[in-house]
Order: sequence, then C-alpha cells, then structure tokens
Amino acid sequence: MLVARRIFPEVLDRLRQHVEVEANETDDVWPAAELARRLQGKAGALTTGSERITPELLAGTPGLRIVANMAVGFNNFDVPACTAHGVLATNTPDVLTDTTADFGFALMMATARRMAESEHFLRAGHWNRWSIDMFAGAEVHGSTLGILGMGRIGQGIARRGAHGFGMRVIYHNRTRLDAATEADCHATYVSKADLLAQADHLVLVLPYTADNHHAIGAPELAQMKPTATLVNIARGGIVDDAALAQALRTGQIAAAGLDVFEGEPQVHPDLLTVPNVVLTPHIASATLKTRRAMANMAADNLIAYLTEGKAVTPINPEVLNA
Ligand code: GLV
Repeated sequence: MLVARRIFPEVLDRLRQHVEVEANETDDVWPAAELARRLQGKAGALTTGSERITPELLAGTPGLRIVANMAVGFNNFDVPACTAHGVLATNTPDVLTDTTADFGFALMMATARRMAESEHFLRAGHWNRWSIDMFAGAEVHGSTLGILGMGRIGQGIARRGAHGFGMRVIYHNRTRLDAATEADCHATYVSKADLLAQADHLVLVLPYTADNHHAIGAPELAQMKPTATLVNIARGGIVDDAALAQALRTGQIAAAGLDVFEGEPQVHPDLLTVPNVVLTPHIASATLKTRRAMANMAADNLIAYLTEGKAVTPINPEVLNA
C-alpha cells in the first residue's frame, strides 16, 4: 500500500507489521500523474486532503481496493466513482470533533476581538499610546452565535457558545436536529435567511458538496449585519473568497476568520491585503494528540480491510457487502 504524505513513524511501523508499505519520504504533494504511477500495484492508499481520488485515477489503478482519508471531510474523493470501481473509501470522524470545535471557537473569538490585526500593529511598532477605542471589537458572550452545518463539530461549537459564553445559538442545517440534541446544544433551528440576518458570529461547519459551492457569496454577505463576523473552518469553496474580501473591504461585514480557502494552499490575494481577517493554514484539527488519532484511525481502516475485509469508518459501506 501507499502512504501519500508523511505520517507519524509509529503509525507507519504499525502499518508495516500488517502490510507492505511505500511511504512518501519527502512529504511532497504528488501531482495526479505521480500519484497514479505510485499507486500501480497497490491495494490501499492512506491519503490526506491534498490527494484527489478521481474517476481518471481510479480507471488507471485497477488493483486499488481502499482509500483511507486522514480527514473527516472527503470532498477530495469522488465517492460514487470509488463505489463503481469497488474501492472502499474511509474517513476519520469523531476523533477530531472537540479539537476542531475548540479551534472554531478560538478563531471566532480571535476574529471578533481583532487579535491578529492588533498583534500585527504591535509587532510593527505602531503602539505608542493607549486609546479608548483602540481595536474595539465585537462582544462574544451574550451575543447570537449562528452555525451553518450542525453536525458533530457544529454541535460542539454550539455547546461551547451556549454553556460557556451564554450565547443565543441559532443554526441551519440540511436536516433539523432531534429535540433532545437541540435542547442539549441550546440551539434553535432557523431558515438560512434568518441565520444570515440574525447572527452576530456566523460559523460555517458544513461539508463541501456541489450544492454548497459558494453557499456564502455576495448575496448572502449582503444579508448579514455590518457588525457581524464570519468564520469558515469547513472547506474552501463554501465561501466565495473574492466576494468576501470585497465585503470586508467595504465594511459590509465587520471581520472574518478563515482556516480554509478556495484553491488552498493558494490564498486569494485580496484576502492577504484586507486587515480585518484572521488567516490560518487549515489547522483546525492540528493538535498532536488528534492528528495521531486521525492517522491511527486511517491505519485501522487499512489494516482491517486489507487483512480481514472489514472497516471501522466506511463512507461507502455498500462496497463491503458487494
Ligand atoms: C480537515 O479538514 C478534515 O476534514 O479532517
């Protein structure tokens, strides 16, 4: 099997106790043709969001049986094509939920309280006196937290906001949560239009699909409060980054915090020049404990499937029963 990016040595060792492994020693991101070449004769691959599993790649890798993504999101996989080729796809849910919710909350607070902007100001040597409204930001406690995408991570953010910060929590999701989960999260279901209009802090935690492409674009930004902050820890492409940069520049919304970008690791140049945005390089699940748990879960899926035909967290379980 192929491990497409650098992972922890102990996880590589564990894989090697069960299957033959080719590892990526340099941690370079292999272009599609190189990935396809390296997958020749391999039954499995441990991938990250950097590797795309496309119909073209699958057509040229007939020996492939499993692709194990070291991420909860799997928009880098064409899942119907995997299923059509009899390739099991797996992801790493649950182990990153709280770590990612912590980060979403931190990014929301950093954005609301202008932490990046004020830190840059200080580092640049501009701080020569205190003033009453210097870097005055938006209130977090007691404000209205809006969540678009209310899966496990969205619920974690809702609980942090409601229980820890006394926030009013509203959410919109493809399907409404059951009453017990809503009560536990202190969250009220609203339409997308009401979410946009009422949120003081809007956090995006929805999966990227064709339907969600530019779910937040110019028309949606225009419906938000001018004092609102927007946080994206979901996926690039859910936000129209060019429209967001424009909205930040014109003051249509107050600030944004972004951990994911359209076309990352490239970042829209306009976002790099607006001051009222906090930018982080896709690190919401990045603690060593969680990243180890994710790598181990991907390894568990590979070992279970390649040695016993089983899987821990299958995305397309119909392949198991085929
Ligand atoms: C990270 O973005 C993930 O999907 O786990």
